[in-house]
Amino acid sequence: MTKKLYIKTYGCQMNVYDSERMAEALGGQGYVETQSPDDADMILLNTCHIREKAAEKVYSELGRFKGLKAEKPDLKIGVAGCVAQAEGQEIMRRQPMVDLVVGPQSYHRLPEMEAKTRVGEKALDTDFPEEDKFEHLKSRPKAKRAPSAFLTVQEGCDKFCAFCVVPYTRGAEVSRPVERILTEARDLVERGVREITLLGQNVNAYHGAGADGSDWSLAQLIWALDKVDGLERIRFTTSHPNDMSDDLIEAHGTCAKLMPYLHLPVQSGSDKILKRMNRAHTADSYLRLIERIRAVRPDILMSGDFIVGFPEETEEDFQATLDLVKEVQYGYAYSFKYSTRPGTPAAERPQVDAAAADDRLQRLQARITDDQRLIQDSMVGREVGVLFEKPGRKLGQMVGKSDYLHAVHVADCPAQVGELRRVRIVDSGANSLAGELVD
Ligand code: 5AD
Ligand code: SF4
Repeated sequence: MTKKLYIKTYGCQMNVYDSERMAEALGGQGYVETQSPDDADMILLNTCHIREKAAEKVYSELGRFKGLKAEKPDLKIGVAGCVAQAEGQEIMRRQPMVDLVVGPQSYHRLPEMEAKTRVGEKALDTDFPEEDKFEHLKSRPKAKRAPSAFLTVQEGCDKFCAFCVVPYTRGAEVSRPVERILTEARDLVERGVREITLLGQNVNAYHGAGADGSDWSLAQLIWALDKVDGLERIRFTTSHPNDMSDDLIEAHGTCAKLMPYLHLPVQSGSDKILKRMNRAHTADSYLRLIERIRAVRPDILMSGDFIVGFPEETEEDFQATLDLVKEVQYGYAYSFKYSTRPGTPAAERPQVDAAAADDRLQRLQARITDDQRLIQDSMVGREVGVLFEKPGRKLGQMVGKSDYLHAVHVADCPAQVGELRRVRIVDSGANSLAGELVD
């Protein structure tokens, strides 16, 4: 009998990838995905622990499922992801209706865990096991896929930024071997994928074993993927400035499949704060790095992450962040108010006044929004590649992503889903661009 699985995904793209793998793993147990929790036999929350709000959302969401569970005692509720990893037992204590808690390194054990919950037992696994979970998370062969897919190549982080839980929840840096990634990429392409985004918490620190036994860099992996027929676009995220090696910078100038978009978080523009964050770079070294990248790929669109209100950040430090943003001109940037994460070094330090942090966040976001708008508007009149992903809301319209990751819609568009076409941008709207096919 088929059972229905409802997965809700929070947080980063790696969680999106993990949710797909979990759905496939549970597919072997007879589960098919449903878009609604109401008719589910199993609800799985794939959680994020990066900021306080993210974890609190999980608890309030669980509260909302209480009624469902009361109506349907056979319903199984599971918590996966980084909150599961960080809080394990605590989740079951706070929400006794939770049947299953699984950390990101144990997803391949989900089928056994699900079986345990079927006989009324609780299942909890937050180990960092020896075996390679990806090898046990083989996907269902030949199921059709959307044109753009994520592929995790690296997990964990050894950088220990003073604010961040990732090194604790995802563990130490691990890179998957090159051959396994290439096999997965070829399989994705056979199933309709044209664009792959390589994922890792610190993806440019990738150093997976190559066929020759030596460790390959991310650039070497990208060049190997460049040779996969049918794969048309390659992206990667998220990167640390200190791991932008020469070969990776060079690839941005020479590898045609590597898209002109780079997410390179800096977090702050103040050297004092960067030092206290344990970032091991300065604002100036970051700016010089971007100069080198722009020298080989002048049109590259930069994206970044920022934290405001980090312990001991003064108005002057914040001004340095605004200066840096002004200098870089980000096409996209994500900014967050510092959130105290228990167990991280910065949690113990004197905190910035919440109202001051709120005010800085607003000012930073206003600045970033202005830049984003300018850059999006500057696309008008240009010709860009667009990979079409789905029909638009209007009849005959198609929607896709440009090389620079802007959403683009084309009216009366003969292009099919999965086609990469040249498009002339004719208008810039609130959240997307309008274009016309070139020929
Ligand atoms: N508080 C606020 N933002 C954080 N980030 C990571 N940890 C925290 C925290 N404790 C942000 C960083 C990172 C992004 C994924 O989330 O900017 O790059
Ligand atoms: Fe967290 Fe990124 Fe710093 Fe690693 S490099 S500790 S994932 S912010």
